[in-house]
Amino acid sequence: MRGASPRNPRAASAAWGWRWELVLGLCAGALFELGAMTLGGAGGGLLVAGVAAVVAWRIPRLHHALSRFLRHRSVDRWFTRALRLCGVVGPWGTRPLVRRSAALPSGMRLEVSVPVGQHTGHLLQAAPALAAALRVREVRVVMDPADASVAHVTVVRRDPLARPTPPWPWLELSATSLWEPVPLGVDEEGLSVGVLLPEHNLLLGGEPGGGKSAALSLLVAAAALDPSVRITLFDAKQVELSCWADVADRFVGPDLEDASLALSALRQEMDERYEALLAARRRKIAPEDGLALHVVVLDELAFYLRGAERATRAKVAEGLRDLVSRGRAAGIVVLAATQKPDHETVPTWVRDLFGYRMALRCTTKEASDTVLGAGWAAQGYSAATVDPRLRGVGFLLAEGGVPMKLRTFYLADADVAGLAARAGRLRGAR
Ligand SMILES: Nc1ncnc2c1ncn2[C@@H]1O[C@H](COP(=O)(O)OP(=O)(O)OP(=O)(O)O)[C@@H](O)[C@H]1O
Ligand SMILES: [Mg+2]
Repeated sequence: MRGASPRNPRAASAAWGWRWELVLGLCAGALFELGAMTLGGAGGGLLVAGVAAVVAWRIPRLHHALSRFLRHRSVDRWFTRALRLCGVVGPWGTRPLVRRSAALPSGMRLEVSVPVGQHTGHLLQAAPALAAALRVREVRVVMDPADASVAHVTVVRRDPLARPTPPWPWLELSATSLWEPVPLGVDEEGLSVGVLLPEHNLLLGGEPGGGKSAALSLLVAAAALDPSVRITLFDAKQVELSCWADVADRFVGPDLEDASLALSALRQEMDERYEALLAARRRKIAPEDGLALHVVVLDELAFYLRGAERATRAKVAEGLRDLVSRGRAAGIVVLAATQKPDHETVPTWVRDLFGYRMALRCTTKEASDTVLGAGWAAQGYSAATVDPRLRGVGFLLAEGGVPMKLRTFYLADADVAGLAARAGRLRGAR
């Protein structure tokens, strides 16, 4: 029978959604009455205002907890209404419950638990309808790996990758430690993403102007500001890394003979490091060993792997292969960028030695797969889909993970000059 108990289910459900605010209102009302009875006249208003002021200024933790709670209640009502409109309900009319909510630069992240009889797939299925009901760009749903009744829902209001990134978080630091993750960019939620360089090598690939050299300069800046780190630079264009030449042990330009000699010296250093590790009965270098990390940067890998005579080219390729495959435990970190991510320039055996790979904007999905690994484009991770106007946007693949879309931080020429001067002073002061 229509209109049975409760008489107006929508009004009852709306009132239920406001229950805690009603409780707070009743408490304030009771306080008002108490003030009016004991102090008379305006005493009620004065007591309520006094208690509110004491909470706001003298008990900041309670104030913050209360504000957070009220914000969460408002998010809960907003999302619950959308769930109702989209028909996401359990067998007894129960709806998923918003357990936690937090603001993100891109919108909001919610932790939602589904009632018995439902599963997070229902939320996933309803995601496009929920996005439309909430009037946002997108709703993303990921199941909690530890609990199938819990989903992590991201409500995306704006695309943080479509706007310039905030300043590099290490821009103002007087010194850094390369044993800490280096901030590389912001992800689709607008959160900072860092890469841990020790024991890792990074390959960057993408079309001209995609942002490879800009990304490399962030990592070189981080290395330069750690005075314990040694740096070797290979720059076929010379202008990209020349600002860092003064803080580097060696700067190699577009000269394959010189490149071959520099790689031989690095291999010798690597062998000496392994001998030292062997003598100390250690398997890899650690921060407390006092052994320096050595960052080797190659901008325009194709030049060094494809130019010159065959014999020199082979020597360079072999030097690089050895360094990338054996250098990690000895504290040698190779960072390389290539404009031509095809199989001839970056053979699979070279690519697979790089634990981190980042595909910036590529012209084809095949090129993107050459950097990230075969099959990722088919799964939706293709740098060919990156908007060519968005420089510095690409997919980063860290060992064993799933590619993550991000936009790198960007250092303007003046920032690079300032950082290089600071690093020079720091190293000069050693
Ligand atoms: N993260 C970023 N944010 C904003 N602009 C960027 C970003 N990265 C790169 N750019 C812009 O794109 C331009 C080209 O970047 P960069 O020189 O790093 O490209 P590249 O991939 O190294 O190109 P090439 O292959 O020709 O060397 C930069 O001069 C800069 O204006
Ligand atoms: Mg470049």
